[in-house]
Amino acid sequence: MENKKQDTASALKDIISHAKEYGFVFPSSEIYDGLQAVYDYGQNGVELKNNLKMVWWKAMTMLHDNVVGIDASIFMHPLTWKASGHVDSFNDPMIDNKDSKKRYRADTLLEERAAQYEAEGKADVGKSLLQKMAKALDAGDLEAVRQIIIDENITCPVSNTANWTEVRQFNLMFSTQVGAVSEDASLIYLRPETAQGIFVNFLNVQKTGRMKVPFGIAQIGKAFRNEIVARNFIFRMREFEQMEMQFFVRPGTEMDWYATWKEVRMKFHQAIGLPASKLKFHDHEKLAHYANAAVDIEYEFPFGFKEMEGIHSRTDFDLKAHQDLSRKKQQYFDPEINENYIPYVVETSVGADRLFLAILCNAYSEEIVGEGDQQKQRIYLNLHPAIAPIKVAVLPLVKKDGLAEKAQEINRSLKFAFNTTYDEGGAIGKRYTRQDLIGTPYCVVIDYQTMEDNTVTVRDRNTMSQERISIADLKEKLGYAVSMERIFEKLLV
Ligand code: GAP
Repeated sequence: MENKKQDTASALKDIISHAKEYGFVFPSSEIYDGLQAVYDYGQNGVELKNNLKMVWWKAMTMLHDNVVGIDASIFMHPLTWKASGHVDSFNDPMIDNKDSKKRYRADTLLEERAAQYEAEGKADVGKSLLQKMAKALDAGDLEAVRQIIIDENITCPVSNTANWTEVRQFNLMFSTQVGAVSEDASLIYLRPETAQGIFVNFLNVQKTGRMKVPFGIAQIGKAFRNEIVARNFIFRMREFEQMEMQFFVRPGTEMDWYATWKEVRMKFHQAIGLPASKLKFHDHEKLAHYANAAVDIEYEFPFGFKEMEGIHSRTDFDLKAHQDLSRKKQQYFDPEINENYIPYVVETSVGADRLFLAILCNAYSEEIVGEGDQQKQRIYLNLHPAIAPIKVAVLPLVKKDGLAEKAQEINRSLKFAFNTTYDEGGAIGKRYTRQDLIGTPYCVVIDYQTMEDNTVTVRDRNTMSQERISIADLKEKLGYAVSMERIFEKLLV
């Protein structure tokens, strides 16, 4: 059996069409030709995404006694975003081409040019270009950024001209109005990260939960960013979901916790099925003003290694900024050292959609099966059973002679424990294929022998091998095989 996993850009196209065809991801409001960088999850996608969120949630809050969860609102007091720095500096430098009217991120244009130099074997030229850009951006010298674009003779891929506007900073936050009467209405933002909902609830949780530092608060929720350049399917969207955890620690201990969480999070990605060879750490060379260490966990998507999760040591920047602006103390009294302090924070932040995309890219498998002129291509999703949308398909070999009734009875007995589906339509091979395409790990087949000895065959999605087992053992055997416990066991070793 030849496994033909693709890793090229065309692989992304295959994955996008597979995701659409089999009910994982649809373009938003497609009947109106869609909305750029916004997507909807279909009947299988929502199950997969919910499973990913659940496994993250439990890995955080159930496996760590000192991590609890919250669910804060998307809307927050506008001063939240002043304190966090998002009002003043959550910007991307953008430039427009006057001929095509297309808008680009100025830094992306230069990064692409640097990558081009590297591909041509002129890595040094590329590196010095990036340094020049970083210097200009750090100094806030947008005219200098524009000049580099002109000097590099970068043209718009649509108009092929270098007729550029000036470079402008573009704030990525979406805003809207609250209040019915326009004079009284005030401007508020759709949160660009979930983290601030955690920071402003730090003392609420610490006090009501009698939490002792070190402890963490986890949250899953929507975030919104008016990304200038949104591309690569669900990798960069304008509405997306984050799974974030702020871990509050005693100042001075943050580097140890940073190292610990790096390891914990890397293990998580491997435990849910991403291979170690496709994951790597990427240290940030240039740190944000609030961070004293930052690293990304990158996954090798079909378009290259890209950030999937960020782990940041954020010092006391956020709590201190909220304390200053709200004039409410954000301190913790540490009984072990008899001291009050503002805790330092180590943050782990992973996009649910990026994790979904990584999992889908990794799971998408094409292989040639059969011999000679019987050879054919098989496509299946190699998803960890615990995150697969449907765990077990129950299939009567034929509808007649009581087999369908028996299969329905078995399906009823399993469906309280995990997601199952019942399918009696068409040849058995076609029914297997339907399940392979959505990643169902097990197919239970009810045949004539079942009627005699109460056994069924269980077909494994990956190996296509079949095992005969007793109906009485089904629930327990399959229950364990598809349980999240199997993932958690790997996290504890
Ligand atoms: N609170 C820290 C924070 O928001 P970030 O690096 O800007 O940090 C964290 O975002 C994660 O959120 C990223 O690693 C990515 O997985 C996800 N993310 C960010 N922007 C996204 C977008 N436009 N579309 C999809 N996911 C995004």
